[in-house]
Amino acid sequence: MSINKLAKKNLVTLFFLFGFSINISAETVALIGTGSVSSALGPKIANLGHKVIYGSRNPQSDSVKLLVEKTGPNSSATSQNLAVQDAQIVIIAVPWDVAEEVVRNLGDLSGKIIIDPINPRIMSDDGFVDYPSNMSISEKIQNIAPEAKVVKAFNTLGADTMANPDLVKYPITIPVVGNDRSAKLTVMALIKALGFNSVDLGPIRFAHIVEGFYLLRANARLYGQYFEWYLFPTTTREQYSGPNNVKF
Ligand SMILES: NC(=O)c1ccc[n+]([C@@H]2O[C@H](COP(=O)([O-])OP(=O)(O)OC[C@H]3O[C@@H](n4cnc5c(N)ncnc54)[C@H](OP(=O)(O)O)[C@@H]3O)[C@@H](O)[C@H]2O)c1
Repeated sequence: MSINKLAKKNLVTLFFLFGFSINISAETVALIGTGSVSSALGPKIANLGHKVIYGSRNPQSDSVKLLVEKTGPNSSATSQNLAVQDAQIVIIAVPWDVAEEVVRNLGDLSGKIIIDPINPRIMSDDGFVDYPSNMSISEKIQNIAPEAKVVKAFNTLGADTMANPDLVKYPITIPVVGNDRSAKLTVMALIKALGFNSVDLGPIRFAHIVEGFYLLRANARLYGQYFEWYLFPTTTREQYSGPNNVKF
C-alpha cells in the first residue's frame, strides 16, 4: 500500500509541547541494530501501527527472532542494508564508533528521515565520559548521506525509560535537532506517540550540544545523581520572563 493511502487510512493528530499539532501517517520504520535501544523502541513503534524492520548482522539469530516475535506480526528482520530499502524512517541504533561505516553501507538514504540516537563518548583518565570528536556524529551522518533528513533524537534518555516512560514521574523532554523542519515534526509526532515530550533546538550543527546532554547526564551519575531531562513548558514570553517581565 502506498504511503499516501496509508496516510489517509491511519492519520493521527498529535499535540506538542509548544502547542502545535501535526499529522503522522503509518510508516515503515527500519531499526538498524538490535541492542537495547532497538529492543526498547521497536515493539512500541510497531504497537503504534507502523511496520518495523530490524536491520541486523545476524537476522537469523535466536535473539533477533525473539525480538521480532516480541515486536509482533507487523515486524521482520533482515540485513542492515535491505532493512532500509522500503523504510521512510531509519533509526541508526548502533555503537558510535561503527556508525559511520554502518551508514556508508546502507546504500542510498536520499529523502529518508534518519533518526540518530547515538552518543559518541570516550572514558577520560579522571573517570568522566568525554566527547571523542569536534564534530557530532549527526553531522558526520548528514555528510555521508547529504540528501537524507538527519534528526538527532532519543540520545538523551536511557533505553529503560524509552521502553517505559512511566518509570519517571514527569513527561521526559527529548531534544531534537536537524536541518529539515518537516522531518523534525514527523519525529516529534513519533516521540509524542511514544509517550514523551520534545523540543526543537535548531539545525544539525547544534547536535554536538545535544550529544553533550548525554555526557552531562552520564557524569552526574558519578555523584549519585540520576535523572532524565525534563523541561517545564511555558506558554508565553511573559510567563517565561517571570512576574517582573524581565526583558533579555
Ligand atoms: N542503551 C541506552 O540506554 C542508550 C540510550 C540512548 C542512546 N543510546 C545510543 O544508541 C546506540 C545504540 O545503543 P544500544 O544500547 O542499543 O547499543 P547495543 O545494545 O550495544 O546494540 C547496538 C547494536 O548495533 C549492532 N552492532 C554492534 N556492533 C556493530 C558493528 N560493528 N557493525 C554493525 N552493527 C553493529 C548490533 O546489532 P546486530 O547484532 O543485530 O547487528 C547491536 O545489537 C548507541 O550509539 C548508544 O550510544 C543508547
